[in-house]
This record gives sequence, C-alpha cells and structure tokens, in this order.
Amino acid sequence: MLKRALTNLMENAIFYGERCDIRLTEREDIVNIEIRDYGPGIPEAERERVFKPFVRLEPSRSRNTGGSGLGLGIARNIMHAHGGELRLDNHNDGGLVVNLLLPRKNQ
Ligand SMILES: Nc1ncnc2c1ncn2[C@@H]1O[C@H](COP(=O)(O)OP(=O)(O)OP(=O)(O)O)[C@@H](O)[C@H]1O
Ligand SMILES: [Mg+2]
Repeated sequence: MLKRALTNLMENAIFYGERCDIRLTEREDIVNIEIRDYGPGIPEAERERVFKPFVRLEPSRSRNTGGSGLGLGIARNIMHAHGGELRLDNHNDGGLVVNLLLPRKNQ
C-alpha cells in the first residue's frame, strides 16, 4: 500500500511538475517523506477538492493524460490506514510539496 501511495505521488510530481526531489526525515515519533516538484502546484482553494474521486484540475493542465483523478485520494486513504497523514502545500519557489507523516509505532 505504501508503494502504491508513493508511486501515485511520484507519478503526479513527474507528470505535472517535470521532476521531483524526495526527502526522508526521521523524528523520534514520526517518519516524514517529502515529495517536492517543480510544476504549477495546486491553488489553496483546490487543495481539498483534489482528493475527491474523479476530480482533475483544468484540462489545460491535464490533457491527454488518461488519468482518472483517483491517485491523490487513494494515497491519502493509504496514509490514514497507517495512522498517518498526507499534507499538500505549495513551495515558495513554486511547485507542489507533499508531506507524508507516518507514525513509527502504532500508538
Ligand atoms: N504534483 C502536482 N502538481 C500540480 N497539480 C497536481 C499535482 N498532482 C495532482 N495534481 C492535480 O490534481 C488532480 C488530481 O490528481 P490525482 O492524482 O488524484 O488524479 P490524476 O493524476 O488526474 O489521475 P490518476 O488517477 O491517474 O492519478 C490532477 O488531475 C491534477 O490536476
Ligand atoms: Mg495522479
């Protein structure tokens, strides 16, 4: 399931954002995987809507992809199933930043 979540997010990052950087940070209680890309990001007003099934942003950004609009919602469901979280932010220099927060032990 975690492989599926990471694959969905990396495919998005490379498709919508051309390339991505992935950073793993360990804390005492949490592992944080950050996936940052260099595309247009997602406007704040759309950041909850994109998790809904079949929601894709304006066609100019998504044309000819054959995507279904399911990947982000599936990734967030997988994180929740592991007691974790998925957060979306835009980077100050542009691009989407996805943070995956995973508890290191089941509490
Ligand atoms: N890294 C990103 N940068 C900019 N927009 C994004 C990014 N990731 C997702 N989006 C936007 O959010 C929408 C939903 O993403 P999601 O991954 O759920 O579906 P999809 O990529 O369209 O199709 P698929 O189900 O094949 O993943 C995308 O269509 C795109 O408009
Ligand atoms: Mg996708």
